[in-house]
Amino acid sequence: MNIVITGATGFVGQALCRYWHEQGHTLMVVSRQSDKAQATIRVPVMARSSAIDFADQSVGAIVNLAGEPIFNRRWSEAQKKKLIDSRLKATHDVGELCQRLATPPARLISGSAMGYYGDQGSREVTEQTSPHKEFAHRLCREWEEAAQQLATDQMQVACLRIGLVLDRDGGMLKPMRPMFRLGLGGRLGKGRQYMPWVHRHDLVRIIDFLLQRDDISGAWNAGAPAPVTNAKFTRTLAASLNRPAPFVMPGSVVSLALGEMSQLLLTGARMVPARLEAAGFRFEYPTLEKALTAIERRAA
Ligand SMILES: NC(=O)c1ccc[n+]([C@@H]2O[C@H](COP(=O)([O-])OP(=O)(O)OC[C@H]3O[C@@H](n4cnc5c(N)ncnc54)[C@H](OP(=O)(O)O)[C@@H]3O)[C@@H](O)[C@H]2O)c1
Repeated sequence: MNIVITGATGFVGQALCRYWHEQGHTLMVVSRQSDKAQATIRVPVMARSSAIDFADQSVGAIVNLAGEPIFNRRWSEAQKKKLIDSRLKATHDVGELCQRLATPPARLISGSAMGYYGDQGSREVTEQTSPHKEFAHRLCREWEEAAQQLATDQMQVACLRIGLVLDRDGGMLKPMRPMFRLGLGGRLGKGRQYMPWVHRHDLVRIIDFLLQRDDISGAWNAGAPAPVTNAKFTRTLAASLNRPAPFVMPGSVVSLALGEMSQLLLTGARMVPARLEAAGFRFEYPTLEKALTAIERRAA
């Protein structure tokens, strides 16, 4: 199948491209640095700087992951605008592409995050749970609404509420592993906040699973079935590295250092993949122990 992917050069997109390349799909990637995309992704792709540039192609599906990294810098008003606008622009261009294609694709799989739900304390969170209104929710809601507006009788739109993506060479483990390896790891605040997570390989398999289904409309929680608290995450990561994690970073210090963005670390949602499990998706890495052990084994 010919598949357009925005954000293909990113942590998730690269793994997705490699997986689909092996399966024989033709990858048409959108990158602001289209001349460098192929070298970054390391499998053959056709790269262009806007989704609209693929209007002369035949497109079977679109995956939309592009956006300013959420944890790049403090959330000033200007940075919040950039976080939202970068995602709305990429999604708008996908819509423009669909308008211009002779035959629009049957599926659009678009990004979102567990931040959609905001701070949910310790209750279980499914796709039906009402969100807590805060900036992360607004960002995800606006991103999802922009994508869902593109749904037509011909094209279904799925929004993936992605948990923290785990693998060795990117995402949150990239800065955390070196700290924990030095024995400098520790929990954040009280450590009771939930951290929904997903192994990157399972996230790629989830996207592939949706590519092959006919009924994908709406939101899907894309996190492993066993989300953990920050305290459990800290203990499990330290154990996977055979190191202690004795420290506690007080919530007040995290808040002072990061401002509003500290919500991402100090609050969370016990998000479970209710829809995926009901649809029969099987996780290769259902528990954090299994995921981190596999990641460390590959890193060795
Ligand atoms: N990783 C996680 O733990 C996680 C968790 C929940 C949700 N998500 C969401 O899932 C998506 C993919 O995650 P990821 O970790 O693969 O992201 P990533 O590594 O940060 O990559 C996203 C891609 O978006 C493009 N991009 C970055 N800044 C941009 C900007 N200002 N304007 C337009 N495009 C920009 C970049 O592509 P080019 O430089 O090639 O244009 C980049 O490769 C993201 O939107 C992220 O918010 C990720």
